[in-house]
Amino acid sequence: MTYLEIEGVNYLSGNIEISGAKNAALPLIVSSILAKNEVKISNVPNVADIKTLFNLLQNLGAYCEFKNNNAIINTKTLKKTIAKYDIVRKMRASILALGPLLARFGNCEVSLPGGCAIGQRPIDLHLLALEKMGANIQIKQGYVVASGNLKGSEIIFDKITVTGSENIIMAAALAKGKTRLINVAKEPEVIQLCEVLKDSGLEINGIGTDEIEIIGTDRELLEFKDIQVIPDRIEAGTYLCAGAIVNSQISISKSNPSHLSSVLSKLDQMGFKTLIEKDVITLLPAKQIYPIEILTSEYPGFPTDMQAQFMTLALKANGTSIIDERLFENRFMHVSELLRMGADIKLNGHIATVVGGKELNAADVMATDLRASSALILAALAAKGTSRVHRIYHLDRGYENLEEKFKSLGAKITRLEE
Ligand code: EPZ
Repeated sequence: MTYLEIEGVNYLSGNIEISGAKNAALPLIVSSILAKNEVKISNVPNVADIKTLFNLLQNLGAYCEFKNNNAIINTKTLKKTIAKYDIVRKMRASILALGPLLARFGNCEVSLPGGCAIGQRPIDLHLLALEKMGANIQIKQGYVVASGNLKGSEIIFDKITVTGSENIIMAAALAKGKTRLINVAKEPEVIQLCEVLKDSGLEINGIGTDEIEIIGTDRELLEFKDIQVIPDRIEAGTYLCAGAIVNSQISISKSNPSHLSSVLSKLDQMGFKTLIEKDVITLLPAKQIYPIEILTSEYPGFPTDMQAQFMTLALKANGTSIIDERLFENRFMHVSELLRMGADIKLNGHIATVVGGKELNAADVMATDLRASSALILAALAAKGTSRVHRIYHLDRGYENLEEKFKSLGAKITRLEE
């Protein structure tokens, strides 16, 4: 198996470019199921999750081409409506195919994604909403078996769900009549999906608010314009934390600073000033690193996808930080690995108390999920000696050219085989 060897303590400098957002590209690629024309998407990150999704669409009969971060997708030839377990189990976001497949074909079967390393992650809200729109849903042999002609309806999400909102927005696009979605996610990735659908002729109001109204086309497919995926705000935040953990000056370009407000504000509270010039963010070293309090929540709140990286950064603060993880019940898997590097972190339910200021030591550590893996790389940069981060296939799911980007910032990082 492949692992990363990282030598620390390693100060960083220089600039890297941020890739397109994985979590924006995934629903955009799936939305091509709603298109009557060939869909062209640029700035698509070349990461494992995106390839898994192309594999899923190809398996259904779609044409997909992916070169140099540009994708061409044609779903005119799409015939099958069964998303197989073998593909879905590799990536939970495959559930995004459920809404558009059902809306376009009136039936589909999508394997249930199952649990995952960060929590139970049910999809009950996706299913309830589709039922409210007239779908007949049954669970058979691990598959969601859905049928029916979707009709517009009023849907109130009990909880804010990102992929749940995206799934139902895509379903409502081809449903018959008006759908009102209340308590919708406002993540930039959800907003981009809505804007793309609007550009393709769909009547959709309230984009960016928590109440969206969509006038469905009654199965008439949409004419898509060319799409450019927004910058990855979590990748951007991860590199800023990498610069911060070794108290270095680095800059990231091709980012969207307005999507990073809560992250930049936390860095500021910790003593790290940032300079912003258009799409470039420069992180300046701190005179002193202060402890923080973090509560993860939906956008525009502090993202759960940045929790592990900030916990690692809090290990360098002069004092005790409190991190309250509210979205996923099991998203502290990185803690036991950080403890092996000398960290002082106590867990009590969904709250982590992080005592900063202790020296980190290099160790062999195991990645458990995508963002936890990146936090371990940050810890390794700041730990004295040679660390090895194992199970890095988690990282390859969502960080494009990770070693090249870290190397260009001066990190001593090598990909090796066990
Ligand atoms: C998306 O997951 C992201 N994935 C996650 O990023 C991210 O951590 C998460 O949103 C929160 O921001 C993609 O966009 C592909 P949710 P999603 O539905 O949509 C509960 C990464 O590292 N819930 O917004 O699956 C759920 O259990 C990944 O890139 C229900 O109870 O998350 C959680 O507590 C990891 N029932 C909360 O809602 C449902 O039907 C928010 O989850 C759906 C969700």
